[in-house]
Amino acid sequence: MSSVQTAPETESRARALAAAQADYLFPWVRPYYSEPLALSEGEGVWVRDVDGDEYLDLFAGILTTSVGHCNPAVLDAVRDQMERLGHTSALYVTEGQIEAARALAEITPGSLRTTCFTNSGTEAVEAAVATARLYTGRHEIVALRLSYSGRSTLTSHMTAQGAWRLPGGGTDGVVHARSPYAYRSPVGGGPEATDFFIDDLVEVIETTTGGKPAAFFAETIQGVAGVIVPPPDYFQRAAEVIRSYGGLFIGDEVQAGFGRTGEHWFGIEHWGVEPDIMVMAKGIANGYPVGATVTRPEIAEAWQGPSISTYGGNSISMAALRATLGVMRSEDVPARAAERGAQLRAGLEALRSAHTWIGDVRGLGLMQGVELVTDRARKTPDGDRAGALLEAAREERLLIGRGGLNGQVIRIGPSLLITEEELDEGIRRFGAACRRIDG
Ligand SMILES: Cc1ncc(COP(=O)(O)O)c(C=O)c1O
Repeated sequence: MSSVQTAPETESRARALAAAQADYLFPWVRPYYSEPLALSEGEGVWVRDVDGDEYLDLFAGILTTSVGHCNPAVLDAVRDQMERLGHTSALYVTEGQIEAARALAEITPGSLRTTCFTNSGTEAVEAAVATARLYTGRHEIVALRLSYSGRSTLTSHMTAQGAWRLPGGGTDGVVHARSPYAYRSPVGGGPEATDFFIDDLVEVIETTTGGKPAAFFAETIQGVAGVIVPPPDYFQRAAEVIRSYGGLFIGDEVQAGFGRTGEHWFGIEHWGVEPDIMVMAKGIANGYPVGATVTRPEIAEAWQGPSISTYGGNSISMAALRATLGVMRSEDVPARAAERGAQLRAGLEALRSAHTWIGDVRGLGLMQGVELVTDRARKTPDGDRAGALLEAAREERLLIGRGGLNGQVIRIGPSLLITEEELDEGIRRFGAACRRIDG
């Protein structure tokens, strides 16, 4: 699957499906694009829609099909597991769950080795917060503005973009410090930026908590916010701050984990910091539903239960996880993502030189963002142009994502196994989409 094809009269099939979706599903299940895209097949970095058109996928189901659509090793593992034993519930011991946790412990930093499996990033965040609250005997959580943490009541209140929060103004004991968004920092992006963000973190703890927070919770790279990479010494200092107040540091690796940022398995390793708890999902099992919360044994001890997740750690998801990690290890995805990331970054920087409306290009490895502005000096976010670019990319048969408070950031995060040629083709199509909306 690699060539561009068109199938003019089938547009109606996708439209009919979109109409049926609107009939039967909650309105928040809202697809991208003015004419929704209905996908039916995939292989590697290619997907095909119900009308037979092929697309190069640089968004990977929101950074999730980490080793490619329908990866054969993952398919074999899942198929094999389904034929032997599908579901047991967490009431019984299964070797697959233990081996999955062991495989994670082999790549997580330092002494993080005890895992609680759930079915989504939302649940993994919930479990991390519950663990921190039980361990510290405290309640308040310091999160970051612009973060996205999920759609449950708690995680929606940890989320700090108004549009993604559940209405009602609840807080669930969560307060928010300034996002370490160097591009939009009033003091610029140099070393003073870190002082500025850390001062704000201290001020938020001092002024909006009782001074005894349970944890500081942060995405290592804020994804939905528009791929915000904190400055080089930010996490070292933020971890020192929260620990000086007796709280834990929880790192959210739902988007940045599993080699995506290049060189390391986890985003936080670029800062050389070991979180007390780590949260994972998305790329962990190539699209099968797994959330994982990993911590040190003594912290996990604090949660004795009883508690249960009927599907958490289920045999099929665990088989997918083990196979995904197996592929990642044999393909050395941290090294691959570093190499392909450099290629992607160079392509995006060249486009920034060609288009004045690209204000910033940022990211690590194969997690990159392109921020659109109406003018570079004022940095006024240009969500309208980003929307047009998303549509133009579709015209080029290219799938990309969008983020940022104003929808002004294009997000790119393909399968970690994308080849040099496929990525070149993706950059070429993205460039063609940029030219479509120029002027
Ligand atoms: C950083 C981060 N944390 C948590 C979540 C929630 O994950 P899920 O949608 O699997 O519940 C997301 C989802 O996009 C995320 O990006």
